[in-house]
Amino acid sequence: MKKLYGVIGDPIGHSMSPAMHNDAFETLEIDAHYHPFHIKGEELATAIPGMKAIGISGFNVTVPHKTAIMPLLDEVDPLAKAIGAVNTVVRSQNRYIGYNTDGEGFIRGLNEEYGSSVLDKQILIIGAGGAARAIYYTLGQQGAVRVDLANRTAEKAEQLKSRCPYPVETALLPLADAEEKLGDYDIIIQTTSIGMSPKVDESPVHLANIRPDAFLSDIIYNPAETAIMKEAKLRGARVQNGLRMFAFQGALAFEKWTGVLPDPDRMEKIVLDKLG
Ligand code: ATR
Repeated sequence: MKKLYGVIGDPIGHSMSPAMHNDAFETLEIDAHYHPFHIKGEELATAIPGMKAIGISGFNVTVPHKTAIMPLLDEVDPLAKAIGAVNTVVRSQNRYIGYNTDGEGFIRGLNEEYGSSVLDKQILIIGAGGAARAIYYTLGQQGAVRVDLANRTAEKAEQLKSRCPYPVETALLPLADAEEKLGDYDIIIQTTSIGMSPKVDESPVHLANIRPDAFLSDIIYNPAETAIMKEAKLRGARVQNGLRMFAFQGALAFEKWTGVLPDPDRMEKIVLDKLG
């Protein structure tokens, strides 16, 4: 019988995930379908047992349910628990288990584009929100040596660091200090919303001190090239946008459901086509 997967969120109409996963099911000749489910916050607690009862085999979770879903699941993987957010649910022997593939998706995409493992490199993360937490904790879990955090609000970066369950050497910096010290870093990861519409001309830091051999990764993918990416390129650095992270977090979810890792290049291309 055809298996059913999906994504839950509010809103959900613009999700790129159905196109990505349905294409992978088709390409890999897996008899399954992926459907977007519009679920409002007040319906979440009844929706999850409902999804289990009708036999949904696994699903992704997007805004605003990534944290609220956690107590409704049978089990939450330790990394997802530390991050405080679930983006992928797997059904195993009729139990729903929550995972977070955002951080691992990011690191897989970064390693690939960087050309070697980034774990022994000097890394700076700009921002201390949910995306920064997923990336920082997963870097910690994977054994990154040095990851500094720069954020506008110092307390948020302090909290991120103090709650990290994995040992990682971290200095906390105001944005202005990070700008000064930028030459210390091999890899700079931009996780704030600055650069997204309507702030397309803004950057959280200026890159006067970036090294030409550095690599800048912005998790934004719309627009495809943010102001900070443009500046990094002008200064000779290599850059990457958030499309690989998005494709890889989806590919890793797919792998958890089916045991097969679909081609992230193909997933990325589908998102690009949808973005027009
Ligand atoms: P997400 O879950 O997508 O990471 P978030 O939790 O709202 O989003 O976090 C947004 C990040 O962007 C935060 O690090 C935020 O900085 P603060 O902790 O100081 O709020 C950062 N950010 C957003 N707008 C900013 C701005 N105008 N200047 C500097 N940082 C900004």
